[in-house]
Amino acid sequence: MFSYLLATLPGDAGAMASGLAEAASSHGHYPAWVTYTQDIAYLVAALLFAYGIKRLGSPRTARSGNGIAAIGMLIAIVVTLYTQEVMSFTWIIAAMVIGSAIGATFSIRVQMTGMPQMVGLFNGFGGIASILVVTSEYMRLAKADLLTTITPDQGLTMGLGILIGGVTFIGSLIAAGKLQGILPGRPMMWPMQLPLNVLGVALCLAGCVTLAINPALWWVVVGLWVISFILGITLLVPIGGADMPVGICLLNSYSGLAAAMTGFILPEPNKALMVSGALVGASGLILTYIMCKAMNRSLANVLFAGVGTDDSTGTAGRDAGGDKTVRSVDPEEMAMILEDSAKVVIVPGYGMAVAQAQYAVRDMFNKLEGKEIEVLFGIHPVAGRMPGHMNVLLAEVDIPYDKLLDLDQINAELETADLALVLGANDVVNPAARHDKGSPIYGMPIIDVDKARTCVVCKRSLAAGYAGVQNELFFMDNTLMLFGDAKKMITEVTAAIES
Ligand code: TAP
Repeated sequence: MFSYLLATLPGDAGAMASGLAEAASSHGHYPAWVTYTQDIAYLVAALLFAYGIKRLGSPRTARSGNGIAAIGMLIAIVVTLYTQEVMSFTWIIAAMVIGSAIGATFSIRVQMTGMPQMVGLFNGFGGIASILVVTSEYMRLAKADLLTTITPDQGLTMGLGILIGGVTFIGSLIAAGKLQGILPGRPMMWPMQLPLNVLGVALCLAGCVTLAINPALWWVVVGLWVISFILGITLLVPIGGADMPVGICLLNSYSGLAAAMTGFILPEPNKALMVSGALVGASGLILTYIMCKAMNRSLANVLFAGVGTDDSTGTAGRDAGGDKTVRSVDPEEMAMILEDSAKVVIVPGYGMAVAQAQYAVRDMFNKLEGKEIEVLFGIHPVAGRMPGHMNVLLAEVDIPYDKLLDLDQINAELETADLALVLGANDVVNPAARHDKGSPIYGMPIIDVDKARTCVVCKRSLAAGYAGVQNELFFMDNTLMLFGDAKKMITEVTAAIES
């Protein structure tokens, strides 16, 4: 039943379920029509995956891209289950209903800010499914006394499938726990951490090679389970909560690799698993690279440097300006500044997501557009805590896509802007990134809000952002602070404009 439920889960877990079902089915040679039907279905599924991923490249087409890739997955799973007589249509439909109900409950209940941990959990399902597929295939061969028929490349792939699947499963649970606040978000470091992790990886690789040489050693499989689970913990706990989205992208890539490997070890190699696994593996790696580049940090720095505080509301920057003074405005004054502007640029950040201020922003946007004030949004690639975080929130409230400009586009607009409104953003607008070589964000491209005629920063205090560094923007001559919760402040500003 577990595999039936998995069959309707998205992504790797779903693909894996088709593999699990295949491993569980009776093996042997299928009639030619089965092979042809499967090959055609897998080809169609692969094309849908590729086309779906292409559509994920723009917020306008992303929703349909997700749906198209999901249809590809559904085709691959249903065809595998039906043609190999794993289950009847009645069972397939029952599984789809149960799986869809679970998926719908998750997606309706999860808050936008909880999305990274949900993605993390789904990665974990992919990881555990791949270990189950590999182990069930190993046990099937053991029962039939066929372990010696495992070829060296199959043995090696089995070992790697367990290693990567185990790290992905436990690592994803740790990642989701940190993001949800169940586990401490701060990076946990201990003596000899790196050498011990290297030793764990080396032991696992030795286990994989041993399986390739002598696949009958069942205790190696048990050992790989145990050490890969331990590695899932020790590799993930040093990553700070705020760096976890990068960790999750990496785990996503691992889960794809594990899926692709299980595709190889099945008695009838499963092309759908190989293709979907390779696509997930490659796209996860590309996303990891993009995020590291946007933060101007190396992957090694994210994984081992232990950067980041518990949350972005810490006190690190409270004395940010030393003896420099800060000028603040109230919502009524802010409304007047807005009404005096012809061109306004809003730069949202993590604080907008925390405050769930996007609806209030939409109302203010409509009001300003009604007064023929041009309003643009500047979206930094790493604003918030997950890729596309700000795009998703603003798309949710129907802000037109052509108003959302990326870093280069918005920087070209800021010199002629009357007002830049920074809404719950901090690191992505910190000018120190341009000149302070000692700053952890040095070199990160930022949105040049200080180039606008006036800049208003809306946040609750002078506290630092995720990187824990002071922000000199707050103390600049053309900056005003609007202190308070983003949703409350913007609602009050809109009310003041109305009155
Ligand atoms: P941050 O630098 O994290 O700053 C967010 C600010 O929001 C805080 O300074 C906080 O100040 C304010 N805030 C919190 N709750 C608020 C509320 N209810 N109302 C108003 N303001 C509130 O955010 P950012 O500028 O979006 O930068 C993102 C950071 O995360 C970057 O350093 C980036 O490298 C890192 N990061 C991003 C990602 C992805 S993929 N997006 C992944 C990993 C790391 P107060 O406490 O004073 O209100």
